[in-house]
Amino acid sequence: MKDPRIITGFSRLSKDEKVDLVAGQVKHPLQFAETLRSSWHRDPLVQKLYDEFSENTLSNYYFPYGVAPNFLINGKLYIVPLVIEESSVVAAASGAAKFWAERGGFHSEVISMKKIGQVHFLWKGDIQPLKDDFPIIKQRLLERTHPITENMKLRGGGISDIELVDMTDSIPDYYQIKGWFDTRDSMGANFINSCLEEFADQLKEYVTEDERLDENNLEIIMSILSNYTPECRVNTWVECDLSTRQGFDDSYSDEDFVRRFQTGIAIAQVDVNRATTHNKGIFNGIDAVALATGNDFRAMEACGHTWASRDGKYKSLSEISVKDGKFRFSLDIPLAIGTVGGLTNLHPLAKYSLELLGNPGADELMMIASAAGLANNYAAVKSLVTKGIQKGHMKMHLLNILNVFQATEAEKKQAIEFFKHEKVAYSTVSKFIESIR
Ligand code: MEV
Repeated sequence: MKDPRIITGFSRLSKDEKVDLVAGQVKHPLQFAETLRSSWHRDPLVQKLYDEFSENTLSNYYFPYGVAPNFLINGKLYIVPLVIEESSVVAAASGAAKFWAERGGFHSEVISMKKIGQVHFLWKGDIQPLKDDFPIIKQRLLERTHPITENMKLRGGGISDIELVDMTDSIPDYYQIKGWFDTRDSMGANFINSCLEEFADQLKEYVTEDERLDENNLEIIMSILSNYTPECRVNTWVECDLSTRQGFDDSYSDEDFVRRFQTGIAIAQVDVNRATTHNKGIFNGIDAVALATGNDFRAMEACGHTWASRDGKYKSLSEISVKDGKFRFSLDIPLAIGTVGGLTNLHPLAKYSLELLGNPGADELMMIASAAGLANNYAAVKSLVTKGIQKGHMKMHLLNILNVFQATEAEKKQAIEFFKHEKVAYSTVSKFIESIR
């Protein structure tokens, strides 16, 4: 890599110029430029669509698009699309889905679907007149946002409530206008942010117009939705009867398996190091559904981790209960996911993902994504407390290692056969390839 220098006007260059300029930064510019160009979509119109999702786009970055069949959720079968680069996640989800499909499947219910946004502002004077006037201000905010909320209201959504919140205990003069929003099937970020910016403008106007209030007391700091959505939540669980043999694992009796599994979850409840990895396993499934359906996985992750710390200590998002002869493994999680708007209807594969899922509403997609999260969590903890994660994971990862050595198809075949009975590691695969070449 050459020394980067300040580049001005980069965004105004043509795409070819950008590719050549950027490729010129590495040791093999021609190969880099060729790799970038060879990843363009063959249809220029589709490529243009991809280019316009973002800025300074040079190419597409491929991720595998896979599916996990046999997800039975509330009695309905789904083939769940998953976009993820990590080997063994799709296999784990598929295995868990099949196991639980034979035991009644996933049960899921949406608890609520409200989202939050805030106008953060400073008010330097006496707050009482603003507090007294707030019912009138609130009415005005609702009325003046009508052009933004009109369509959402027709779909049954809109602004559910608005409150004035005193935050002066934390920061002097700091207040919020806090709004609750029902964005129906959309994730709703743009809708909420537009409403909030209108709230801020209207607050300014109100304060300016009312001679009892001094407009110099008001300073709007920012208006933005909150990605923390504890009131947009879904609860998903699997359960089975322990009085009959379930055959959770080949090497352990049901009793031992359940005891070890339960301890595995308990550890993630008390130890923050384990909890982080445990929850990462849940997001393996959730993020993969989010990506496959064109949703914002960063928002969902940020929210999930905040929720995991709601009691003041970060802990496992999933819970287990074993009582009265019943095993119940559950995930209660906020998920702001959408099936309209954003990329959901723009990205060609996101559209097909939704069609594959039967064009669900946001509530149904919350259930599907959380089931994928719970399935991955079940599969990961099951492996961890039985045979260990590496055996299965490295078997799945074998092809990646073989690809690093540019193994031929014949070599791959030989390696797969050989490693059926051997431990897969980078070094053992390297030695094996050396030995057969
Ligand atoms: C790897 O992507 C995810 C796991 O580490 C999750 C877990 O440890 O529970 C296997």
